[in-house]
Amino acid sequence: MPGWRVTLSLAGRTKAPLAQAGALRIGGFGGAEGLADYLRAAGMELVIDATHPFAARISANAVRAAEMAGLPLLVLDRPGWVRREGDRWIEVGSMGEAAAAALGEAPRRVFLAIGRQEVGAFRVAPQHRYLVRSVEPVAAENALAQAQYILSRGPFAEADEMALLREHGIEVVVAKNSGGDATYGKIAAARALGLPVVMVARPPAGGGMKLESPEAVLSLLDHARGIPALRGE
Ligand SMILES: NC(=O)c1ccc[n+]([C@@H]2O[C@H](COP(=O)([O-])OP(=O)(O)OC[C@H]3O[C@@H](n4cnc5c(N)ncnc54)[C@H](OP(=O)(O)O)[C@@H]3O)[C@@H](O)[C@H]2O)c1
Repeated sequence: MPGWRVTLSLAGRTKAPLAQAGALRIGGFGGAEGLADYLRAAGMELVIDATHPFAARISANAVRAAEMAGLPLLVLDRPGWVRREGDRWIEVGSMGEAAAAALGEAPRRVFLAIGRQEVGAFRVAPQHRYLVRSVEPVAAENALAQAQYILSRGPFAEADEMALLREHGIEVVVAKNSGGDATYGKIAAARALGLPVVMVARPPAGGGMKLESPEAVLSLLDHARGIPALRGE
């Protein structure tokens, strides 16, 4: 980002994150207050929330911390996926029991493509056989009774997702409505194969100036130096 010195903050969930430009810091801040202290101490001028749409806690902390530190907040808020003709979505409000219950009573072969943190929510439905895909291994306390685990990092192409669903005889897919292209392949593949998708809705968005793409954020930053509202003045 020409004209800006950027520090990227990661939670530290991924052991070997992909290399990125700019300075990198890893690990939590200790809540909104900790993040506000960090922003002040580091002399930051602007906060960009570019987290995953389901990372609700850090997004809420960013809103409060930016307020406390008197800084503008830009939020990269990519649009969620929208149901298309042929989609068999079962929409649920949250990952918890609602998603597990949506799989029904009868045993099914389920593809869990939801990351590793909430896999444990499906322990209430041990009758199903699960194929679980995540970047990092699922912790022992979240392990499921009948599950096969694959470690893999996106993006995932539709054709590969179709092959995977077929190979494992998947009958239903569970996904978060993350939006974007990188993980849409499984949704398109499920549609092509006529499979239902339990689609988990996003947590509600918080404050900040919302922009739909990295390009939109960059273009705003290009002009931001002269905009008082973006400089917190
Ligand atoms: N949740 C998902 O579905 C999902 C999916 C893919 C990727 N991710 C990514 O994984 C990271 C963690 O997700 P999560 O679900 O644990 O988030 P979360 O529930 O919103 O955050 C939990 C805590 O992790 C720390 N944290 C989160 N993101 C951070 C960051 N970028 N820099 C420093 N600390 C951070 C914060 O700790 P303190 O309060 O101590 O500051 C936060 O309170 C996020 O950066 C997110 O983009 C999440």
